[in-house]
Amino acid sequence: EKLDIVVVGSCIMDLISYSERQPKPGETIKGSKFMTGFGGKGANQCFMAAKLGAKCLMVSKVGKDDFGNSYIRNYQEHGMSTEYVQQTSEASTAIAAITVSQDGQNCIIIVTGALDLLSESDVLQAESCIKNCKVMLCQLEIDQNVSLFAMKLAKKHGVKTIFNSAPAQCNINPEFFTVCDIFCANETEAEILTGLSVKSLEEGKIAVKALLDQGCNTVILTLGEQGSLFATKDSPTVVHVPITKVKAVDTTGAGDAYLGSLAYYIALMPELPLLEAIKRASAIAGLSVQSPGTQSSFPKREQLPNNLF
Ligand code: RIB
Ligand code: NA
Repeated sequence: EKLDIVVVGSCIMDLISYSERQPKPGETIKGSKFMTGFGGKGANQCFMAAKLGAKCLMVSKVGKDDFGNSYIRNYQEHGMSTEYVQQTSEASTAIAAITVSQDGQNCIIIVTGALDLLSESDVLQAESCIKNCKVMLCQLEIDQNVSLFAMKLAKKHGVKTIFNSAPAQCNINPEFFTVCDIFCANETEAEILTGLSVKSLEEGKIAVKALLDQGCNTVILTLGEQGSLFATKDSPTVVHVPITKVKAVDTTGAGDAYLGSLAYYIALMPELPLLEAIKRASAIAGLSVQSPGTQSSFPKREQLPNNLF
């Protein structure tokens, strides 16, 4: 079977508490609601692309525990293969302790557990599938060496690579800048990676240039309510793509809705100009912040207007 997108990355069980505000250090506050959700940046991006209609494959690892079992079931219920989502008894399924305050902002602690055991040889086992995909997406919730290895393998087979430098991490291997076709960062990640302040559009443009100077082919910088900036090696003038402001209920996973949608457009509508793909991905991410949760808040293709396709 021909696949569109492969994600080598994280499956995480999200444990989400909603409260009026974030607690301060040493403080206990009462929350108003709790829910669990299927999360992890990798899986979120994979599900987003699948919800739009892409044929997606996930390469990941979960524990042989209740969370791991239900994650596997979740893939199966959505008709996705779990051939390369192995269960290990040596570590527990990764979890994310998430608090969402009334303004829709979140704080997240992730404990990566089984994800740390996802190895280069696990990626190699999926090589015959990877080489038949159009796009590979990677992030930084698994061992960065494994992400890098996966993207090099994709490149060897002519598969387009999109790298999302999330969550923010200093000391990433400089090869990340050059191995991917598209390097996508948010403002925090861009600050850490360039050492520059990214507080305004103007500063964002300078950061995009700095990332291009590191050898990136295409850089996309997401700036929350300010939309995105992008530029390419061949066309280095930075373009601003604004968004329409929406009222955020829960911004958790908005970046993943954006990345998954972007991968969808690049894989399935490769003739679409990048500017247009970014506009559409922003619109879909904007819808996701208007309902609670991560994957569960991502819209399906049937719920979206035709002009997005
Ligand atoms: O980007 C959102 C995701 O980050 C959550 O689903 C959580 O699992 C963390 O990894
Ligand atoms: Na959401």
